[in-house]
Amino acid sequence: MKQDLLGLKDLSAEEIKNILETAKSMKVVLTSPSKKTPHLQGKTVVNLFYENSTRTRLSFELAAKYMSANAANISSSGSSVAKGETLIDTAETINAMGTDILVMRHDMSGAPHLIAPLVDASVINAGDGMNEHPTQALLDMFTMLEKKGSIEGLKVAIVGDITHSRVVRSNIYGLKKLGAEVTVGGPATLVPQGIEQMGVKVFTTVHEAIVGADVVMGLRIQLERQKKGLFPSVREYNRFFGIDETRLKFAKPDALLMHPGPVNRGVEFSSSVIDGPQSVINEQVTNGVAVRMAVMYLLSRGGFK
Ligand code: CP
Repeated sequence: MKQDLLGLKDLSAEEIKNILETAKSMKVVLTSPSKKTPHLQGKTVVNLFYENSTRTRLSFELAAKYMSANAANISSSGSSVAKGETLIDTAETINAMGTDILVMRHDMSGAPHLIAPLVDASVINAGDGMNEHPTQALLDMFTMLEKKGSIEGLKVAIVGDITHSRVVRSNIYGLKKLGAEVTVGGPATLVPQGIEQMGVKVFTTVHEAIVGADVVMGLRIQLERQKKGLFPSVREYNRFFGIDETRLKFAKPDALLMHPGPVNRGVEFSSSVIDGPQSVINEQVTNGVAVRMAVMYLLSRGGFK
């Protein structure tokens, strides 16, 4: 039976560890001169994106090509989606062309969960609304593991727009399963009520959120998902929650600075920390390709167990 990757909520710690271990081998391929393996020879990967993307879409495409798969992209503009075709009809059409892996990004939480039982292809959630972005969290955890040696016991502080972030939800599921301590911080209007039930500590000042952290992760302020102003202005957000060199000193001296991207420079982080020695933002992007290679390879072999 095929397996999908719809979220880290559904995976066990062992399955997550297996993906991260496989990604280590994929990173060796990625950093070799030829960047080519036959792992997905004869397979077809289709990226179906209903929302904008640079990193996720390109890294899935490159990951598929590095593993010798046939790779194609469809976006909602420029396809029959723009003529009114439904998500289900679109997905079934792509499935009927012999697709083995369907990578989906959609603005509706639960869209990949709706499609997965209807198609033969393995479905990978590349971000659904405010729900999950599992491969982003996997690449974040891979980067932490590479830099810190272990996830267990790490103190990870996540600061920003918690309410609208699918990245934070996937990271909380994954990091908690691997034994990290997670704190979240942001303006009270951008922290959803009840998030403590996911096993995280919540703070409404940046100092409390990041003090003593091993990892400081910023989240993009998602103005496009806010129907009404949830804080007075971007400048105000930066004044209270923006992280610069002075605020980064609240964390441990060797803390990693992470961000899923795209970053609003001068809002979540100052340019001095984005381009500074603690930033691993570009390494996250590189690791995204290795992790997506691992996920697609394991799915093509039947799953993550
Ligand atoms: N981190 C992330 O999902 O970036 P993109 O929107 O560019 O894919």
